[in-house]
Amino acid sequence: MDPVLNPYAPGAGTPPPELAGRDDLREKVRIAVARLRRGLQAKSVLMVGLRGVGKTVLLDRMRDDARADGVQTIRIEAPEGRSLPALLAPQLRQALLALSRNLRARDLAQRGLRALAGFAKSLKLKYQDIEVGLDFDPEPGLADNGDLEHDLQALLETVGQAAASADTALAMFIDELQYVKEDELAALITAMHRCAQQRLPIVLVGAGLPQLPGRMGRAKSYAERLFDFPEVGPLNATAARLAIIKPANAQGVDFTEPAVAALVAKTQGYPYFLQEWGKHAWDHATSSPIRCEDVFAASGTAIAALDESFFRVRFDRLTPAEKRYLRAMAALGPGPHRSGDIAEQLQRKVTSLGPTRAQLIDKGMVWSPNHGDTAFTVPLFDEFMIRIMPGDDWHNA
Ligand SMILES: Nc1ncnc2c1ncn2[C@@H]1O[C@H](COP(=O)(O)OP(=O)(O)OP(=O)(O)O)[C@@H](O)[C@H]1O
Ligand SMILES: [Mg+2]
Repeated sequence: MDPVLNPYAPGAGTPPPELAGRDDLREKVRIAVARLRRGLQAKSVLMVGLRGVGKTVLLDRMRDDARADGVQTIRIEAPEGRSLPALLAPQLRQALLALSRNLRARDLAQRGLRALAGFAKSLKLKYQDIEVGLDFDPEPGLADNGDLEHDLQALLETVGQAAASADTALAMFIDELQYVKEDELAALITAMHRCAQQRLPIVLVGAGLPQLPGRMGRAKSYAERLFDFPEVGPLNATAARLAIIKPANAQGVDFTEPAVAALVAKTQGYPYFLQEWGKHAWDHATSSPIRCEDVFAASGTAIAALDESFFRVRFDRLTPAEKRYLRAMAALGPGPHRSGDIAEQLQRKVTSLGPTRAQLIDKGMVWSPNHGDTAFTVPLFDEFMIRIMPGDDWHNA
């Protein structure tokens, strides 16, 4: 088929031609935001899932939904190595400036901007990466203690009051939440808790890897009651079929039944893999309908493309010791695996591997579903590790 018209969209955060199977979650968030806006109780929503399941594109779509409903939004991605206050400050400023254009909210929004000035000035010493335009002078005593937990709470309260007076809500979309440091996470949880107690219209919609609920719970023990943690997983067969068929149909192209079944089976319903395989099957086919043979023939290039992009970006960030650790896990299968079994593969003591495992958790490569268990955060990573480090000599690599 004509590659120019290929509808599929593999890529990190690249919106899919059809966002399949996520309507319930979108609706859940829409309802939470609408309730908060009316002063009713609703929990913030933190979506958890493996790499490539579509958390980022879902978060972005939810943000579009919220904006279409007239909700004030901010959107940040927590990268490794930047502080949460530095990420939040400029976004909150934009939200407050927007709110200040609403006559009913103007005074409270300006108070919010004073709070932001106090917040930025007093925390600058500790979080040197804070860079934000200051529109007003601080108000002494408002969000300027120099203590993140207190000041973030005070700041978000002023934003919530401004949003309420404008009859709207503030929805904060934060991606890769698992990278936020524990004390900063604790401050965010406290602030959200305080806003919830006052029924202020602020909601957090976050996304992160499966370690997120545990990290939140360690930061503040009540976090697991304060938030909902819906799982974003691979698409079920119906949704996976839709993700493949609908974009092709829109171009007048069909798939045979066995071709669709093969695509769903090969990708196990993982969204990133569906996009990649769909793309290659399309490029490989010479006419509609796209057949099973096309799907099989496209597997080589689809896997090569995944290896070069989706898997490779993760692999290249690993140290040799981390690579060996993951290769040992791969030798045991998809997992999860006991620490003792991994150590045995490496002919090492469990304790001596602790630091490597901890680094891999920090990098978001593995997580611990239960005490002493280790699992990949990237689906099918075990097969990739064996492709990229074949044979037996990885033991001494
Ligand atoms: N519901 C869906 N239906 C079809 N395709 C989807 C769906 N969700 C995501 N995709 C596709 O899957 C790929 C990965 O999406 P995305 O980057 O949002 O995943 P992610 O969970 O954020 O991954 P990571 O953890 O690596 O950031 C993209 O190519 C996207 O177009
Ligand atoms: Mg993402």
